[in-house]
Formats: sequence, C-alpha cells, structure tokens
Amino acid sequence: MSDIELRSKEETARQYEFMSKVELIVREMSGKAGRKLTACIKTFGCQMNARDSEKLTGILRKVGYDIIPEDREEEADFIIYNTCTVRENANLKVYGRLGKLGHIKESRPELMIALCGCMMQEPDVVEKIRRSYKFVDIVFGTHNIFELPELLCKRFEEQRQVIEIWDDTDKVVEDLPAERKYSFKSGVNIMFGCNNFCSYCIVPYVRGRERSRKPEDIIAEIERLSADGVKEIMLLGQNVNSYGKNLENPISFAKLLEEVCKVEGIERVRFMTSHPKDLSDELIEVMAKNSKICNHLHLPLQSGSSRVLKEMNRHYTKEGYLELVDKLRAAIPDIALTTDIIVGFPGETEEDFLETMDVVERVEYDSAFTFIYSKRTGTPAAKMEDQIPEDVIKDRFDRLLKLVQEKATKKNKELEGKTLPVLVETINPQDSSLVSGRLENNSMVHFPGDVSLIGQVVDVKLCEAKGFYYLGSRA
Ligand code: SAH
Ligand code: SF4
Ligand code: F3S
Repeated sequence: MSDIELRSKEETARQYEFMSKVELIVREMSGKAGRKLTACIKTFGCQMNARDSEKLTGILRKVGYDIIPEDREEEADFIIYNTCTVRENANLKVYGRLGKLGHIKESRPELMIALCGCMMQEPDVVEKIRRSYKFVDIVFGTHNIFELPELLCKRFEEQRQVIEIWDDTDKVVEDLPAERKYSFKSGVNIMFGCNNFCSYCIVPYVRGRERSRKPEDIIAEIERLSADGVKEIMLLGQNVNSYGKNLENPISFAKLLEEVCKVEGIERVRFMTSHPKDLSDELIEVMAKNSKICNHLHLPLQSGSSRVLKEMNRHYTKEGYLELVDKLRAAIPDIALTTDIIVGFPGETEEDFLETMDVVERVEYDSAFTFIYSKRTGTPAAKMEDQIPEDVIKDRFDRLLKLVQEKATKKNKELEGKTLPVLVETINPQDSSLVSGRLENNSMVHFPGDVSLIGQVVDVKLCEAKGFYYLGSRA
C-alpha cells in the first residue's frame, strides 16, 4: 500500500469516529425536539456536485438526520448548499438564496447552515462569507467533503463559525457512506480535478489537479452498486479520456470501460465528459463493439472557429473535430451526439461565430447546451481584451439556439416509429397512468405503465416525437 493510500484509509477511520460522536449529539438534540432532526441538501452545478451531494446525504443519514427534499428546504434543521461557480449566474443564485436563509435564521436561530462546493474554493467568496454572512455555520470546499463529520463535531462542540478549505489534495478518500438519489442508476467518480486549463474555465482552479481512482476501487464500487440493484452507471470525470494516465499502473479509459461492462447486472454504461483532444481510436472501437455502452457521446465543441479554439486552449481545430465526428459515425452509425457551446468568447468575430453555426449545421447534434461566455476572475480569458458587447452576444446566442433546436427536432423525428429500450425512472408527475424513462441517447419517453416498471429496461415503440421527448407504448 502506498503512503497516500495508507493516509486515506486512516482518514476514513477518523471520520467514522467523528460520525459516532456526532450521532450521539444529534440523537440528544432529536430527543429534546421530540422528533427526528431533518437536513436538506440543495445542489447546484454538474454531475460531480450531484455525486458529492449523494456522499453528503450518506453521511448525514448515518449521523441521524432525516433527509427532506429541496422544495421543503425552509422547514429543515440543517441546510447545505453544494455550490457551483462555472458561470457568474451560478454564484448570484447562491447569494440570493443566502439572503433569504439569513431571515429564516433570525426567527429560528437553531437552524444550521453549511456551504460547500466549487464556489467555496474561491478565496474572495470565503472572505465575503466570513465578513457579511456570519450566520453561516460551516464552510468547506471540494477537496474535503469527507470531513463533514469532523466539521459538524467542531461546530457542535465549539459553537462558532467553522471554515475549512484546502487549496488542493492528493488524497482520494474511499469507503465513506454515500446514498443514491435513484435506486437503479448511479454516478461513479473515476477521476477528480482537471489539468486542461481551458482559458475561460474556472474548474481546474476549484477542483484541483487531475487524480484518477484505481480501477480496482472503481470496479469494486460498481459491483456493490450492481448487487444493490443498479442497472445504469455514469462514469464521471472532467475529461474521462485522460483517465488512468498518471496511475502507478497506467490504464486507458477504453480498458476501464471494458472492465466496467463485464460487471454482471449492469445493463447500461454512460460517461461524462469526453474532451475531443484525447478521444482515442481505441475508445471508439470499444464503444462500437460493446452493447452495454450507450449509443451516445457528449463531445463539447465550445467553438467552431479554429482561431477561437486556439485562444480557448482546447488543442483541436474545427477540421479535427469534424473528422472525429465522421470517424464516430462510421464506426457507430446511429450514435447520438450532444455538445456544449460557448457564445461570445473574447474576440469572437461574426466570422468565428459563423464557423460555430457551420459545425452545428453539419454535425446535427441531438441536443446542445449553449452558454453565454461568463468572465471568471483568475482565468486567462478574463484578462483578454475585446470582451464582446452584451447585445452582440444576445443576437448570436438567439441565432445559435434556433439552429440547435431545429436540428434537435429533426434528429428527434428520425426515431419516430422505432422500438427502442427505455430505462423506466418514475411515474409521470403530470399523468399517473404514464411512466417516464430514458433512451440510450438520454431522451425522455413517456408511455402507459405502472410502478412495477421502475428500474426496468423495457422495449418501447416511439409513437410520437414531441421535440424534446417522445410519447410511446410498450412493444
Ligand atoms: N469538463 C467539461 C466541462 C465542464 S464545465 C468539458 O471540458 O467539456 C461545463 C460547460 O460549461 C463547458 O463545457 C463549457 O461549455 C461551459 N463553461 C465553462 N466555463 C464557462 C464560462 N466561463 N462561460 C460560459 N460557459 C462556460
Ligand atoms: Fe474546464 Fe476545460 Fe477542464 Fe472542461 S476540460 S473542466 S472546460 S478546463
Ligand atoms: Fe460547477 Fe464545479 Fe461542476 S464549478 S460545473 S459544480 S465542477
């Protein structure tokens, strides 16, 4: 066992000790209140944060809290915001809600409030909370979420604001409790952090350097999930294509995928996110031959202009990206492609923007997330001259969205009349005679069914394409 692994194991044991301590405190508080204490975790941001929130949920449940849904936040005894800072409006949302929480706490001083996640890795943010949001009880970051038991203990014992942020970490702490939001599908972290430093992006600064988990730990986790009834796995990393390169025994992402597919009981495997610069032929081959891997690839484009891509530090060109798409479609003809696009990167000209439109026109994405460029302090792009005026961005954004929607509707129509497997997720909230589930390409399908189908993969005929979802019937 390496030094780092040994320290990680010791850390897990330490946190279990704190959990036992906190459990006693929470039990006493529940006794006084005459009911079980409740906690509510509000998650902002991406799948990484969603998975982290499942870990927080696992810990809180273990120490004796009942977990209540986000829409009942105001009645909780403990509220945690797991924050995102990828774009400025993600930050603004948190400050807006914090103001409201301050008022609730005035009338209910025993309410506990914790902030964690990516925003907390920014020193300015923490300073602002220290100064202007003194009512916040606990603040921690992305590198030490496993310390929640210890921080809770400190807060209860010392009765003061507890702030603990780490700049970075080499630790991957395994084997702490985690709870799944869905019984039949789960995200699994395969790596943490990012080394790519795309010039607009704050993620490498708030999530630290790239660290891969060992394949045996990942497989063991997936085997446990499968034994527990999970059918679909989403492997998570900021750039899964560079997985495993820095491990003591290097292994490629494609090899890991093959191992994951061997786990009995797992029927579907997805992954997020693939950086085009590192997408290998080996991966395409493994995707093509392995029926468990969903016929879907999220391949962020960001911009269609090779000049802008260079400024973004993305390490591919428009032509390179299009070649990759051709290669993918040749190997996997019915693959669904989705993407992320940023509009209004500093210096983006009308010509650059038209290159982006051209890629959307040619690739015909099944769907695309479109974002207005947001200046993130500390990133190289924030210092670039020629930031684009708002009205120009807005006009480009509207044109792009229109084209993206046109293509998505067209793609959506192409599947009409086909019969495809659907993993059923829920009873339809609007019409309880229907159930809702997802195709391999992640599109939603609603069809007549009952609760017994939840968590099952069933064949469904897609009778009517409705733009972003389908109405179907059991085949
Ligand atoms: N690791 C993933 C993306 C994570 S962030 C990848 O490389 O694809 C998700 C998306 O947010 C990015 O793909 C990008 O399109 C968008 N994004 C990141 N920083 C942004 C910024 N400063 N302004 C606008 N959008 C941004
Ligand atoms: Fe951000 Fe680029 Fe890393 Fe994705 S690959 S998280 S866009 S720096
Ligand atoms: Fe946001 Fe952090 Fe994810 S900044 S997008 S929650 S990695």
